[in-house]
Amino acid sequence: MIDFHHFPRTALVAKPFLGRDAALRRPPVSAHEYPRTTQRAVPTIRNGAHYNKRMPPRGDAIVLIGFMGAGKSSVGRTLARMAGLPRFDTDEMVAARFGLTISEIFETHGEEKFRDAETEVLRNLADKRGAVITTGGGIVLRPENVFQLRKLGSIVHLWADEKTLFQRVDRRRTRPLLRTENPRATMNELLRVRLPHYRQAADVEIDTSVLTHDEVAKKILTSLEKL
Ligand code: S3P
Repeated sequence: MIDFHHFPRTALVAKPFLGRDAALRRPPVSAHEYPRTTQRAVPTIRNGAHYNKRMPPRGDAIVLIGFMGAGKSSVGRTLARMAGLPRFDTDEMVAARFGLTISEIFETHGEEKFRDAETEVLRNLADKRGAVITTGGGIVLRPENVFQLRKLGSIVHLWADEKTLFQRVDRRRTRPLLRTENPRATMNELLRVRLPHYRQAADVEIDTSVLTHDEVAKKILTSLEKL
């Protein structure tokens, strides 16, 4: 059983904290290139959400990250409607680029090509202001992607307990990475590797396990107001 709270938010390497000008000069190619900052994340807990109170200035988009089944796409739609904002979904944009479903892209071109396209569509979103941006669960694996997401806006990590996540992904068997002999074990392993990345990147974290899409969307809006 993976315990979400075993992954402290401040345990990883320094957060990206470049000024905007520096950021535009050259995007870092690895996490180790990010300058260390004294403005460490200080998570506090209010209303069940964790906050990083001192974060670098960033765009005003709302970016949803998190594991498959955490509710990013559904909540993103609700949130966009509620806030009256346009919505951009990196998976949809990659699929449109290839004219294929995500599964077909993995089958025909392989994961690496999918990841390259994911990074490319993210770069193309750089000028988006006042938008809801939803992402695929693996987007945090590339440091450049996290850097781009940070420039876009506030990052909201949606999560749910392991059992709930598995029930959700098992309902719709559309995830190529979980088409293995033992999807539950694969999911656990992916979660173990990724949770620290989600946690490190996030400004706000929301447990979606027992909430409706509307409740999560409202919680996002109130949480962001308090940042
Ligand atoms: C992936 C998650 C998927 C999609 C692709 C890879 C991942 O998106 O991007 O199948 O690596 O976790 P969702 O998180 O929306 O399922």
